[in-house]
Amino acid sequence: MLWRILLIQAVTRVPVWIVLLSFGSRFPQFISGLVQIILLLVYWWIRRPGPRSWLGMHLLLSLFCSIALLYPISPMGYGLMALVVFLVQGRTDRDRVPLYFSSYEVLTVLATLMPQNQGVFFDLGCGDGRVLAYLSKRYPGWGFKGFELALIPWLLAQWRCRDCANVEIFRSSFWQAPINQADVIYCFLSPEPMRELGDQFSQQGHKGSLLISNSFEIPDGHPDQVLTIKGVLQTNLYVYLFAHQ
Ligand SMILES: C[S@@+](CC[C@H](N)C(=O)[O-])C[C@H]1O[C@@H](n2cnc3c(N)ncnc32)[C@H](O)[C@@H]1O
Repeated sequence: MLWRILLIQAVTRVPVWIVLLSFGSRFPQFISGLVQIILLLVYWWIRRPGPRSWLGMHLLLSLFCSIALLYPISPMGYGLMALVVFLVQGRTDRDRVPLYFSSYEVLTVLATLMPQNQGVFFDLGCGDGRVLAYLSKRYPGWGFKGFELALIPWLLAQWRCRDCANVEIFRSSFWQAPINQADVIYCFLSPEPMRELGDQFSQQGHKGSLLISNSFEIPDGHPDQVLTIKGVLQTNLYVYLFAHQ
């Protein structure tokens, strides 16, 4: 991955920078950064490698780097940025689970997997609450609980679900979630916590409960169903049924 990033930087930025320098340009780094943004847009237009939100993220990052090269940022500025990252991403350093969102395609498939008319649904690491808001409107007989540690996503989830009477959102770690109370557990995390989560599910799940993991499998687990989701990301939903007891 790192070599690819370095290669992209080298191909898209360094030659432009050298040309600008040789013409005595005043802001070679800034302008080469802008050229890189244009190349990124062209690449995206041709290949469409991911959802549009990724493009926005990369553009903002490139633009920010260019501006940072033009106007030196004080150490306080970097401290502030670290704080914003912490408020948005929570303890990514510890949990290894960053913030990104389930696609609309995933939501529509999830809605077909709810096994009965009533039950309890958990979203472990519920982000901005989009999964809970979407399903709670379609399944008024269900109770929905979200667990989220990062402050800003948690606030967004509270706001998004403000009119959903059957949704509760907790600002707590999903490791504290009472798994035994859930009929369906949904998660979209990362490879890092999946083994431990699988262990927790197999110890605390109740007969008939489902664990649905977006994109990340439980290592050595055997999903009862694998659903391929259409859309730019082409992810899988791994469905595990708790069959004991
Ligand atoms: C990939 S996002 C998924 C968001 C949402 N479930 C969705 O599918 O759109 C994962 C979320 O888990 C949160 N998270 C990471 N570790 C957590 C923990 N230990 N307890 C609660 N939330 C956590 C992150 O802050 C992030 O918002």
